[in-house]
Amino acid sequence: MKARIAVLGGDGIGPEVIAEAVRVLERMATLHDHEFVLEHLPFGGVAIDEFGDGLPPATLEGCLAADGVLLGAIGGPKWGPKAPVRPEAALLRLRSALGVYANLRPVKVIPALRDSSTIKAEIIDGVDMLFVRELTGGIYFGRKWREGDRAVDECAYTVPEIERITRVAGHLARQRRGRITQVDKSNVLETSRLWREVSQRVIDAEFPGVSIEHMFVDSAAMHLIRRPRDFDVILTENLFGDVLTDEAAMLAGSLGVLPSAALGDGRRGLYEPIHGSAPDIAGRGIANPCGTILSAALLLRHSLGLEREALQIEAAVNAALEAGARTADLTTDSAAVLNTRGMGDAVIAKLG
Ligand code: IPM
Ligand code: MN
Repeated sequence: MKARIAVLGGDGIGPEVIAEAVRVLERMATLHDHEFVLEHLPFGGVAIDEFGDGLPPATLEGCLAADGVLLGAIGGPKWGPKAPVRPEAALLRLRSALGVYANLRPVKVIPALRDSSTIKAEIIDGVDMLFVRELTGGIYFGRKWREGDRAVDECAYTVPEIERITRVAGHLARQRRGRITQVDKSNVLETSRLWREVSQRVIDAEFPGVSIEHMFVDSAAMHLIRRPRDFDVILTENLFGDVLTDEAAMLAGSLGVLPSAALGDGRRGLYEPIHGSAPDIAGRGIANPCGTILSAALLLRHSLGLEREALQIEAAVNAALEAGARTADLTTDSAAVLNTRGMGDAVIAKLG
């Protein structure tokens, strides 16, 4: 098949991990006779420096015209909270422009990494959960302003916004163990009370066989590390999903191995590892590319419908890790450590 993929390296370790995912995509194209047209576009802090805009019009156009968008990471100390234009704002604009309101963040413990987690192996064995994080609404997109010594961030959700993300969770729960945990703070927040009402109604009416429970976010934060195996699909709003997925990532051993997909109503999606730009290690070629490589697999699955190829990449990452391939985030044994390129090589070798 022929497909257009927009590639946004971004900042920090972004371009380094993206380079390995690109090599994997190129290898897959050769192996399966696909034509992937990769268009590298400036995005994030690097685009602010060059064009004064984190999401230049040509980048946005390229992303809108692509079948899928693969992103490394954005941000860094150079464009800190005081900077006039911030890379994070560009990412929010891109998510919004692409209409990718459903952020899927699978957290699955890779058996080979069970001892890399800071949590005891017997607690994390068998963990397999999927976060469905609402991505284009809530406090991230509310009005923000200062008045005198006050700062205000508005958080609003509408019924249709909650309905459509609940449907995504419902469909995915059906393909899994059929259990949704909807996370909110409905003992305090009005938006959360709406989430609870609407999500319950949609699941009851449209997803027979799927169960939904509701949990306060503070309690969810605790149960995630106390009994993580019990979770199947976790449905939550933008901000809670951001926080809880970083927490849950530690179950899998490292932020470096986790991919994500952001989807809307069509096929087009935005795929990125869940880690950030890691300015502390940027430029050293030591970052773990697995999260980005697995994000490329999600792109093949969700945007191009190439399930077999997605599985092949996922199996290759597992096999490389199984065979002992480790980047610095995954081991304390400095003699055995692979750099970013070395990990890319290890995965590509397992693709056959
Ligand atoms: C993420 C990131 C982003 C978010 C930032 C960079 C805006 O933390 O994708 O989890 O908060 O959504
Ligand atoms: Mn985050």
